[in-house]
Order: sequence, then C-alpha cells, then structure tokens
Amino acid sequence: MSMDGVAWSSLHKITRAQSGSQPFSKETLKRVLGFAAPHKGKLIAFVIASIAGAFLAVATPVLAGQVVDAIIAKADVGTVIWLAVLIAIVAVGEAGVGLVTRWLSSTIGEGVIVDLRTRVFDHVQRMPVAFFTRTRTGALVSRLNNDVIGAQSAFAGTLSGVVSNVVALALTLIVMLNTSWLVTVLAMVLLPIFLIPARRMGSKLADLRREAAAHNAAMGTQMTERFSAPGATLVKLFGRPDEESREFAARAGRVRDIGIRTAMLQFTFVTALTLVSALALALVYGLGGWLALGGQLAPGDVVVLALLLTRLYAPLTALSNARVEIMSALVSFERVFEILDLQPLITEKPDAVAVPSGPVAVEFHDVRFSYPSADKVSLASLEDVSTLDTRGGEEVLHGVSFRVEPGQTVALVGSSGAGKSTVAQLLSRLYDVDSGAVRLGGRGPGTGVDVRDLQFDSLRDALGMVTQDGHLFHETIASNLRLARPDATEEDMWEVLRRARLEPMIRSLPDGLETVVGERGYRLSGGERQRLTIARLLIKQPRVVILDEATAALDSTNEAAVQAALGEALEGRTAVVIAHRLSTIRAADVILVVEDGRIVERGTHTELLVADGRYAELYRTQFAEATAVAEEAVPEPN
Ligand SMILES: Nc1ncnc2c1ncn2[C@@H]1O[C@H](COP(=O)(O)OP(=O)(O)O)[C@@H](O)[C@H]1O
Ligand SMILES: [Mg+2]
Repeated sequence: MSMDGVAWSSLHKITRAQSGSQPFSKETLKRVLGFAAPHKGKLIAFVIASIAGAFLAVATPVLAGQVVDAIIAKADVGTVIWLAVLIAIVAVGEAGVGLVTRWLSSTIGEGVIVDLRTRVFDHVQRMPVAFFTRTRTGALVSRLNNDVIGAQSAFAGTLSGVVSNVVALALTLIVMLNTSWLVTVLAMVLLPIFLIPARRMGSKLADLRREAAAHNAAMGTQMTERFSAPGATLVKLFGRPDEESREFAARAGRVRDIGIRTAMLQFTFVTALTLVSALALALVYGLGGWLALGGQLAPGDVVVLALLLTRLYAPLTALSNARVEIMSALVSFERVFEILDLQPLITEKPDAVAVPSGPVAVEFHDVRFSYPSADKVSLASLEDVSTLDTRGGEEVLHGVSFRVEPGQTVALVGSSGAGKSTVAQLLSRLYDVDSGAVRLGGRGPGTGVDVRDLQFDSLRDALGMVTQDGHLFHETIASNLRLARPDATEEDMWEVLRRARLEPMIRSLPDGLETVVGERGYRLSGGERQRLTIARLLIKQPRVVILDEATAALDSTNEAAVQAALGEALEGRTAVVIAHRLSTIRAADVILVVEDGRIVERGTHTELLVADGRYAELYRTQFAEATAVAEEAVPEPN
C-alpha cells in the first residue's frame, strides 16, 4: 500500500470510530447535572435573569405597536414621548440583564470545568503504570483539553441557550397569539418547510465537528510523540520524515475540507433562515395589513406582529438544533466520564497500615504474575485501536519465592526477559501479583505485611528504586532531587552529588543546582543522567533499595566510583539488586538466578560456581566478559 493509502486508511479508521451520533444515556445527563449541583444558587439566578430578559425582549415590540396606535389615534405628544422613554429604559434593562446572564452562564460553565478538570487530573494520576504503558499521551492530553472544553461549551453555551430560548419563544408566541392568532398561525406554517432540513443539517454539522476533533487529536498525538527529544531522535535515525509529513498533511487537508464544508453549511443555513423569516414577514404585512384595512386588527398590532416575528425564528432554529448540540456536548462529557470510570487496578485499602518500623525484610511468596490485558487497564480510544486486546498476558512469573533478611542484599541475575525487572516492579507495587504475596517486614517467613495492605505514602517512603532508563522531570536539578526529599537542604544535595561523582560537573554549570535538565534529561549525557538518578536515591535514603541495572549506562571509571557510593547507600539497608557486573553480584549475600520466570538456582557466588550450573555458565559468558571490558576502562560513550 502506498503511503497515501496508509494515511487514508488511518483517516478512515478514525472517521468510522468517531462518526454516528451516539445516543447519550440518562445516566450521563444525571452525572452532568451532578457537576452543576454545587452551582445551584447561580443556576436559579440564571433562570430568573433569562425570564426577565425574555419579558424585556417582548416589551419593545409591544411598546412600538402602542406608539403606532397613538399616532393613528392622534394622541397627545406626551404619550408618544413617554412610550419612547419606556422603550429606551427597556433597551438599557435588556443590556444589563444580558450582561448578568452572560456572567452567570460563564461562571457556572467555568466552575463546572474546574471541578471536572481537577477530578480527571487527580484520577489519571492514580492510574497504574500499566495504563500509561498503553495510552498514547497525545490522545490523553487531547481528551483532557479538547473534551473538557467541549463539555464546558455545553454549559456556557448550549444549556444556557436552551433555557433562555425556551422562555423567549414561549413569551413571544403567547403575545403574538394574543395579538392575532390567525396571522400567527399562518406565519408559522412556513416553519416546518425550513425546520426539517435544518435539523438534518444540524446533525451533519455535529458529525463533521466530531470528525474534525478526532483529526485534530490525531495530529496532536503525532506532534507530542514526534516532537520530543527521544521521538525526534528516533525519526532522524529510523523514521521516514517524508511519509510522516504526508500523513500529517493528509489529516490537515481533511480538517481544511471539513472547515470549508462546515462554513458553507452554516452559511446556507443562515441564508435559508433569513429567507424564510422574510417570507413570513411578507405574509404578516400582507395578511395583517388586509385585516387592519378591514378593521379587524389595529395598525399597531401589525407592527407588533412583524417585530415579534423577527425575534421568533432565531430561538426556534436554535432550539431545533439544540438536541444535536447538546448531544455532541454530552459526547464530550461521556469521553471524560469514560476516563473517570476507569478503575485504577491498584488502590489503597481503607484500613491500610504503615510499613513496620526498624530494619525491614523483603519476601516473595510463591508469586505468580502476568501483565494485565489491555481491556483491564486502558481505553481503545486512547490506544488508537478500534478494539482492545482482551487476551490475558502470558504468565511472566511462575511461582517465585525468596526472602531477603533485613540489611541483606540479594542479587538477581539471568538472561534478558527472564523476569527480573518484573520482580522489581512487583516489589514497588507498580503492579499487583495474581497469586502469592509480596511482603515487607516481619521476623520470619510469612510474618511480614503484604504490600497490598500498606499505605501508598508509607511504601513510597520506604522504597527507593533506580532503573536503567532513570527519568528526570524537565525541571531544575534541585527540584528533581527534592522530589525524593522535599526538605533537602543545599548541603544535602551537594553531598549526594559529590557521592554520585557529579559535583564538579554541576558546580561548573552557570546555574549550578538551578540548572534545568532537558526533557527526559537530554541535555545531560546518559551517564550523567544515570548518576543524577542515583543521587536522587542517595538523598532519599530509603529503607529498601531496588537497583535495576542502575549502573548499566556508566563507563567503568565512573561505575567503580558510583558503586562505592551505592555500596555506602546499601549499608545496613535491605537491597534487591539486578546487575550484570560481577563486582556487584559478588558482594551480594544471596544470588538468585532467574530464568523464564522461575528461580532456577540460589546461593553465594562460590557455592554457585561450585555447583557448576546456569550461574557458572552465565559467569563464564556474560559477567566475565563484562568485567574484562570494564577493566579496560573504556571512556564513557555518550
Ligand atoms: N509492560 C509489560 N507488558 C507486558 N509484558 C511485559 C511488560 N514488561 C515486560 N514484559 C514481559 O515480561 C517478561 C519479563 O520481562 P522483564 O521482567 O522486563 O525481564 P528482565 O528484566 O529479566 O529482562 C518478558 O517476556 C517481557 O516481554
Ligand atoms: Mg530488566
């Protein structure tokens, strides 16, 4: 398939997934009103203001009719002037009431959005890591921005429009029917000719808008993914920029086409509306004038009817489209609720306890685990797929048991993909086990507290982890360190930076600790970034240390130095170390050899060498080599 073909098929996929006005449920409406509940006082004020506005709007035509009648009856000048003054007062009143209504509806709309936005942010923050490994950041951010704004327009625009239009329409009709039911009814006859196609057009417009929103979100996703340092690097190294541009251009082109169609549809709509109301006006003048000549209608009433008619068609058409507009606004709400309804798989129990004090043991008891399937943790619309993978992941750990006594270090070794990092993630409760248990503390086997019974804060404080691809926020060095210990002083920071062998480098920077590290820490070299994440661990001083190939990105000179620092950091702490360097492994109290999700050997370095099994094999191939290379002291590659 040509690239254009690919681009168009992905466009098609989006179109299909997004089109079709989904009916919204009563549940959604109820929830939306739930968000409005705290603003009840303002809502009531808004309805009152809308009613007042509608009365004032009807007053002007009625007064104008009286002026005409006064002129024809040759009344005195005073009456006419008095009526004119009243019309002026009504105009000022209308302006004032308009301001108040506008202020109320936007205050309510913005208020609802603040609630919705903070709730979604808070909720997404609590989602498990599995959610983020599946979601496309761009799609998520677009939902937080565009859909929340779409939901806001429902409140500020549509819902408030409905209230004021219904009131205006009802009052206008009452006054018109009262003036001349015959003229009114005949003037309304033209309406259906116009309203039926108008409704169809309204729903067409909503579909187009929805499609445009989907394309905008897709472009946003493409940009957020490609325009980050790692994404841009990847495109430069492997990507096909021309095809990326072509795909982007295809989407942008479709948004243009939709924009033009929307504009033309709207213009046709307005023109048709103007035409129909002009025709109805002709009818009012003709029929009304005829009746007035026959004495069946006052001349002033003809003016009243004509003026009211011009105010009738606008709310009528607005209302005829309101259903569609409310529906598309509710779709926005639904898309936001969809995220709020995702249950975080990992939650804190109401009666959660703190990590037991004192030195803490770590225990895995017959742990089985498979990574959760997509439908448990994610949404199809956020992954950019049409249906979610419901296959349960293959079991990755098949009954892993081990115990690390307080203050001891266990080293996990094994080939890549064996399940070592998974063990680290289960210990820090980034995922929960399927069966078995991960426990902290306790004096003997089975006596510790299950991590699922621990308070999040307490577990977070107790554990410290450094991974191979340590992440830094795009903030200053100091704030990245304070993340681990908010009350750290400058001295504390320099101390850990010194131990992580970063002090001279950071001292030489013009802004020192206040230097902003690039997105993902890209302005630092890989080794420097790694050492900064180690400094972050050192400043945290956790009771349990997890190192997942923490020194893999370091050159041997620095590694030796940082190892020393890590050695100090591990002093007296319980540690789980995943390593591929012999020096680290040798220092461990126990070595566990993990293969295919099982512990296949355990013992000390010497014991395992004597046993001459898998460890001995790894030792001869992997570690011996790594160590030999390390000893040649190659310079840091990046
Ligand atoms: N987020 C994930 N979702 C699904 N499967 C995963 C995920 N992370 C790792 N795996 C799988 O789990 C297995 C163990 O991975 P891992 O624990 O990272 O291995 P190791 O750290 O020993 O190299 C591998 O087969 C890997 O493909
Ligand atoms: Mg790993």
